[in-house]
Amino acid sequence: MSDLVNIALPKGRLGEKAYGIFESAGYDCPSIKENNRKLVFENGGVRYFWVKPADVAIYVERGAADIGVVGSDVLNENAPDVYELLDLGIGKCRMAVAAPKGFRDDPSRMLRVATKFPHTAAAYYAKRGRLIDVIKLNGSIELAPLLGMSDVIVDIVETGKTLLENNMEPIADVAGVSARLIANKAAFRFKNEAVTAIQQSIAGRL
Ligand code: PRP
Repeated sequence: MSDLVNIALPKGRLGEKAYGIFESAGYDCPSIKENNRKLVFENGGVRYFWVKPADVAIYVERGAADIGVVGSDVLNENAPDVYELLDLGIGKCRMAVAAPKGFRDDPSRMLRVATKFPHTAAAYYAKRGRLIDVIKLNGSIELAPLLGMSDVIVDIVETGKTLLENNMEPIADVAGVSARLIANKAAFRFKNEAVTAIQQSIAGRL
């Protein structure tokens, strides 16, 4: 008997793309496409569930999910104790420092940095020996410099449209971002056959 594999997908556009990869690798679950508010879907040997993108790694780390799909931005920020199995090559964007156009850093002053990724921002500036005051926000980060609450932001840039429309520009690259397939460490050991089969089928589709 093969093991049922629990898969956490990030709710939203990235999750739909990720499901498409699982589907094309042979792990389809037609009911997932029904437009309702159900969160759990099972077919054959897999059970999918939708979770908030920032929570995927928590479900996987704690073993509620055996595997999951999560952005490398979230992995770098939270450093969960999981295995990273594959770079899925979707959800590609950049983590960048951005500032209002014309911004010039004054090294004699503490730099105020607004971000959803406080550890990532702290690590980036620590490496450069720059003292910062991190302001942790949960969204609409671009507002902080516009209102004078921060000097710069560390945030995701995809098309660059949000920055442009708010009269800001990227001033430094922090890291490339893409979606990763991750696995719970115990599940990787005890459901190894099933998890590895999924990993290999997906790798073959990339
Ligand atoms: C993300 C990110 C930027 C925007 C970048 O925000 O924080 O604000 O997308 O995309 P762009 O370069 O294509 O404009 P999200 O939509 O997740 O909302 P949030 O700011 O409320 O987190």
